Amino acid sequence: MRLFSLPTLLTAALGLASSSDALKILMGNDDGFGSGNLRELYKLLKAAGHEVLIVAPAQQQSGKGGTVIWSTTANLTLPSQYSIVPAGSPSVGRDPSDPSIWYYDGTPAACTFVALDYVLPLYYPSWHGTADLFLAGPNYGTNLGAFVMGLSGTVGATFAAISRSIPGIALSASNPSVPYFNVTGPGHPAALAAHAAFTVVTSFITNSPKDQAILPLGYGVNVNIPPLTNSTLPPVVKTRLTGNANTDIAVYNATTGLFDWDNISPPAAGINAAYNGDTSLPGETWVVAGGGIGVSVFTMDFSAPENEYTEAVYGKVEGLVGKGAKGAGYSKRMVEERMRKRGVMLSGRDGGVGV
Ligand SMILES: *[C@@H]1O[C@H](CO)[C@@H](O)[C@H](O)[C@H]1NC(C)=O
Ligand SMILES: *[C@@H]1O[C@H](CO)[C@@H](O)[C@H](O)[C@H]1NC(C)=O
Ligand SMILES: *[C@@H]1O[C@H](CO)[C@@H](O)[C@H](O)[C@H]1NC(C)=O
Ligand SMILES: *[C@@H]1O[C@H](CO)[C@@H](O)[C@H](O)[C@H]1NC(C)=O
Repeated sequence: MRLFSLPTLLTAALGLASSSDALKILMGNDDGFGSGNLRELYKLLKAAGHEVLIVAPAQQQSGKGGTVIWSTTANLTLPSQYSIVPAGSPSVGRDPSDPSIWYYDGTPAACTFVALDYVLPLYYPSWHGTADLFLAGPNYGTNLGAFVMGLSGTVGATFAAISRSIPGIALSASNPSVPYFNVTGPGHPAALAAHAAFTVVTSFITNSPKDQAILPLGYGVNVNIPPLTNSTLPPVVKTRLTGNANTDIAVYNATTGLFDWDNISPPAAGINAAYNGDTSLPGETWVVAGGGIGVSVFTMDFSAPENEYTEAVYGKVEGLVGKGAKGAGYSKRMVEERMRKRGVMLSGRDGGVGV
């Protein structure tokens, strides 16, 4: 009789870990490569049999959105986060204690590109310059509503990956920051956040047929996790970005003469205008406030849907359209022709550009 180890049975039950199901997963974040949340999720994914690589900022880089800022020096001028590597180390490099954990001294989106165009082609040729899945976080603090799509580095790093045809999931939790070496065990808030994130991510993986992308081209997912005190998974809810979502106000302090931000209350109408997708879904902000895990699906396509509003807006340039534009080869027929010629763009899974 063949005996199976308990881990084998568990991973078999999860439908994972036969090596053919193992994915190449690239991870990033904006809290820095020493984040407890990031490394707890990394450990769970590796234990499940995936090939996992982290390329994350050398320092904390929250609130940088999708901005791409490169290091201006080839060596770190300061020690990295938690002094994991000293000043003078190369601006891109490995954690001395784990060769699969890389840092780069740039913004979250810059880290994604450095991963795809430098780290992967030079050090991991079998990845062919791409990954099966990109995961950011879990972030310290939630990223809720469309305003954070431009503001959050967690989302910015994810956008960068999705723009390069990699399915991307931005993960955000509600626990405070903790260095990886201070996560005390499976009951620690960082471990609980990582476990909840792992459960959601695993559902996406196990429900994707083999050899099929985890998400359609240009799609991303925004997952937000409420505060957790135990390992029981809170209700997972299909949500949308709009609905009770926040945007910022500038708060002036006359004593200091300085501004700071706060959430606007009641929520602003502009950030909550709902045009795309299933408008009957609850907003992620509302669901997470109620203790649920919000799972919102978004696409890279910011274009407005085809409706009377959009038509009216286009109508305002109608007088210009057809004068220069048609002559310049942008008639509907010409556009269709060009799209057909660029068909390869739609096949997805671009390789890296190489170094
Ligand atoms: C910068 O890093 C390189 C390795 O990439 C190293 O050879 C060099 O000595 C470093 N320079 C300084 C000033 O630390
Ligand atoms: C890590 O834990 C130690 C011991 O509790 C504490 O002194 C230290 O401040 C913590 N480090 C950080 C960066 O939170
Ligand atoms: C786990 O945490 C949730 C949310 O804080 C709480 O409602 C639930 O009662 C807890 N379960 C146990 C078994 O402690
Ligand atoms: C303005 O700043 C001062 C100095 O930091 C602080 O003591 C005060 O509480 C602030 N006022 C408000 C309204 O936040």
